[in-house]
Amino acid sequence: MRNGLYSAGITITGSGSATPSGRLSNEDLTQMVETSDEWITTRTGIKQRCVAAPGESLVDIGTQASQSALEMANVHPEQLDLVILATSTPDDLFGSAVSIQTALGAKKAVAFDLTAACSGFLFGLVNAAQFIRTGMYQKILLVGADLLSRWVDWSDRSTCILFGDGAGAVVIEATDPQRDALLGFELCSDGQLSHTLTLSHQGDSRTLLDSVQVSQGNYQPIHMKGKEVYRFAVEKVPEVISKALFHAELTSQQVDWLLLHQANQRIMDAVAQRLNLPQESVISNLASYGNTSAASIPLALDEAMRASQLNAGEIIAISGFGAGLTWGAAIVQWQIV
Ligand code: COA
Repeated sequence: MRNGLYSAGITITGSGSATPSGRLSNEDLTQMVETSDEWITTRTGIKQRCVAAPGESLVDIGTQASQSALEMANVHPEQLDLVILATSTPDDLFGSAVSIQTALGAKKAVAFDLTAACSGFLFGLVNAAQFIRTGMYQKILLVGADLLSRWVDWSDRSTCILFGDGAGAVVIEATDPQRDALLGFELCSDGQLSHTLTLSHQGDSRTLLDSVQVSQGNYQPIHMKGKEVYRFAVEKVPEVISKALFHAELTSQQVDWLLLHQANQRIMDAVAQRLNLPQESVISNLASYGNTSAASIPLALDEAMRASQLNAGEIIAISGFGAGLTWGAAIVQWQIV
């Protein structure tokens, strides 16, 4: 009687997504680094990605995605209690959720950023559910958005082919605990593996007074040990989904859709295979967007939703994974008809 513990359940009532205007195909990348469309396609499944022009901001695309989600949910911004922005690339390091809140006119809402790299949306979903299950909040906007193009080393062919920019958003509302869409979840992290994927600050020592030094510098471009991250994902993602399914009292045979962080088609296919799920159950739009970090799951969810791919009652196993390292899974029963 899991649901008997909570005063409310969650339901996803709207989704939206937005991408910046720039497009960068595999062919375009061959003009920048030594690579080929064939190499990128066979190793990753990516064909193109979107990149933000200097005038386009994370807040712009995050707000656009949010407006679509609110419209679908038929929720007015002033009804929102909370805005969570999952991002690792805010326009302002102090946080960009508040700027989205202001742009939307969500005057009553409290807003904060959540940083968990490519797991950010998944961690945000579970966070939002806690506020709703305790009865504190009724309407929450969860945005996943990243502009990794700002932090990619465009001369490093091992990483620049992977990433793209985008934003996705969902509206999460309180419902009867018996109709709770979040059937089970599991979240994990392991800082011992943080060196395999970093976007870290490096500074030089600057002396303020004889006895006081500070570090001043900047964030360094994304650095990744690709093979290690690949192995981590293929091992840990099926495991964490199995644990979340156990909490949901379901088996993988009852899963209708696998919605994974869109990092690499080979990772998604390997996870499906390990869970004995057919290839057709994998929701994928990676070819068009690349790895958009915290945006990838809501972007794929929104496209699947608007293409009428999802039916009410179906079980979606969602899993995010990435830098930290962080990973997690949520088992969601789809409710929008
Ligand atoms: N084009 C052509 N050749 C490339 C290349 C590119 N863009 N990038 C690397 N190569 C070369 C390497 O230099 C290497 O050459 P060598 O054998 O002469 O040394 C060869 O291709 C194989 O490189 P390797 O790194 O072993 O390839 P891989 O099969 O592991 O694929 C990734 C690389 C990045 C696609 C893969 O490791 C991966 O997807 N990892 C997970 C990354 C990820 O998802 N990160 C985000 C998680 S949120």
